[in-house]
Amino acid sequence: MYPSRHDAQLGGNQAFLNDLKKAIDGEYTAVTWYKTMEKMAPTNKQKEKLKLIRKDEEKHYNQFSYLHYSLTGQQYQPKLTRECPSNHLEAIRAAFVDEQETTDFYLNISDYQMQQSIKDMFRRAAADEQNHAVWFLHFHFISSFRNNVVFNDNWHI
Ligand SMILES: [Fe+2]
Ligand SMILES: [Fe+2]
Repeated sequence: MYPSRHDAQLGGNQAFLNDLKKAIDGEYTAVTWYKTMEKMAPTNKQKEKLKLIRKDEEKHYNQFSYLHYSLTGQQYQPKLTRECPSNHLEAIRAAFVDEQETTDFYLNISDYQMQQSIKDMFRRAAADEQNHAVWFLHFHFISSFRNNVVFNDNWHI
């Protein structure tokens, strides 16, 4: 089946649509997690930073959802990919790994995508995720000290 002119113009194909849905699920999950983590944050400064990070994820979510609608004419219903850990330090660690992996995922999409506006959208989102990853690394460092955690074998990726 040939893609419609509309579909081709916007850079849509099935592989990309699958990646886009995965990205929307990831952003939806991040927004849900970070709302929970804001409540668990040990300081107001961390709470404020988590809120700013969540605002970035909401922006990505809205951009990707709108793109999906533009390509398919359908609103995608997002799914939570994983529950947020109840332990704050574990949640921070999981968020750090997820932000790193999402950076790679978005850069890969940007590399193969032919439509310039979509390339730019994913490259910019990748830069945001990389910035978030560094914040989570910092939070992890601080919280480990606060909790006197010297080393935990579970922290191997
Ligand atoms: Fe994001
Ligand atoms: Fe992020």
